[in-house]
Amino acid sequence: MSAGNADYRDSGLVFPEGFTFGSATASYQVEGGAREDGRLPSIWDTFSGTPGRVWNGDTGDVACDHYHRWESDLDLMKDLGLDAYRFSIAWPRIVPAGTGAVNQAGIDFYSRLVDGLLERGIRPVATLYHWDLPQPLEDAGGWPVRATADAFERYAEIMGTALGDRIHTWTTLNEPWCSAYLGYGQGGHAPGRAEPASALAAVHHLNLAHGRAVQALRATSTGDPDYSVTLNFHVARGRGDQAAEAIRRVDALANRAFTGPMLRGEYPADLLQDTASVTDWSFVQEGDLEAIHQPIDVLGVNYYSTVTVRLWDGVSPRQVNDGHKATAGGTAWPGSDGVLEFLEQPGPYTEMGWNIAPEGLEELLLSLREQFPDQALMVTENGAAFADEVAEDGSVPDADRLDYLRRHFTAAHRAMQQGVDLRGYFVWSLLDNFEWGYGYAKRFGIVRVDFDTLERTVKQSGEWYARLAKTGTLPE
Ligand code: NOJ
Repeated sequence: MSAGNADYRDSGLVFPEGFTFGSATASYQVEGGAREDGRLPSIWDTFSGTPGRVWNGDTGDVACDHYHRWESDLDLMKDLGLDAYRFSIAWPRIVPAGTGAVNQAGIDFYSRLVDGLLERGIRPVATLYHWDLPQPLEDAGGWPVRATADAFERYAEIMGTALGDRIHTWTTLNEPWCSAYLGYGQGGHAPGRAEPASALAAVHHLNLAHGRAVQALRATSTGDPDYSVTLNFHVARGRGDQAAEAIRRVDALANRAFTGPMLRGEYPADLLQDTASVTDWSFVQEGDLEAIHQPIDVLGVNYYSTVTVRLWDGVSPRQVNDGHKATAGGTAWPGSDGVLEFLEQPGPYTEMGWNIAPEGLEELLLSLREQFPDQALMVTENGAAFADEVAEDGSVPDADRLDYLRRHFTAAHRAMQQGVDLRGYFVWSLLDNFEWGYGYAKRFGIVRVDFDTLERTVKQSGEWYARLAKTGTLPE
């Protein structure tokens, strides 16, 4: 596309004044303290505690111990010169049973964290849901049932009331595609159910939860926060003589299933048609689309790599690499199982096996600008897992990650030069952490965590990012 012959390795590019340089984490991935101060299990505690679900039997019980080390972690963020910190709130710390009693100790933890950020001049960007659903809500049906959206609305109201005077940006959901399709369609994520119809019901109730939460946060926040949601857009390349149709299907299921109701107030007609053999969408009730369709200030974009798809010809051997190959069973593409085929990507790859394609980020940002011209954007996640090595002097020379980040920042900068209203960029992740089904095997941090001692070491990419955050200019 517009990428031309760009090699995406420019140095010296200047980002506009006020551009936000941040870094991101999520509660279950970094906090630990899983049984402390009134927190009860989430679906990820249950899932990681079930043999065979997570690599090596790893769990988030201790993770980076951020629950106890949050103050020194905030000092680290300040040293790195971050403008903003994107973290998530653990719902099971706030309303441990999902409904009923509110746990003040949980609220106090995040209140201290937010104050600590503000004291250090770092803007708090808080996500309400980064996948840790209170287990009792799953026991009552989980995201496929409407009551979960009701419970989420109440949780949003509680958080708006508690922190809405200080939060800079509220994000309702992180990557609802993963919650719905990996959690309920494919089963590689908690709660591990492989039920295509449930996955689509989950899509709708997550959308509803988003819209209701925006309204609840708006009604209770006394500051002047921005409102947002973070989606993991799929940038698809097509193969075969029906390449365009293959891309359309991925776009409908992965992207427009969320942007349709959230930003346009409707489910795309082609999505309903593609999934008609799976569900009649009768869980969509009157008034739901109005509730979901709330204005947001900024749309969060998570981007890591691209996918390549073709429509299966029914003859050649099927390939099923959808970028989540360590997880098995079910389908992440309800209605398109047996239709869509995910092909091996051309390399190079990160340690996740994901292809490195910075041009996909430029393309995605331009496409979102075209689809939603007035919607400000924010890259809420981008980063890479590599098998880091610690040098003899204790430093972590992670040239691969640095190069990945430089190339993606260059791509974002190019999109901005073409008119994209991109407000900021959050590197995933501040710390090496619990990478879901992969446990601690995959390291995304710009800061290394030694999982024996829990000691933190800023990697070379972290030093590089600190220079970018402090100067606004892409360093050498
Ligand atoms: C997206 C998710 O939001 C985050 O939790 C995860 O660790 C990264 N991608 C990397 O897979």
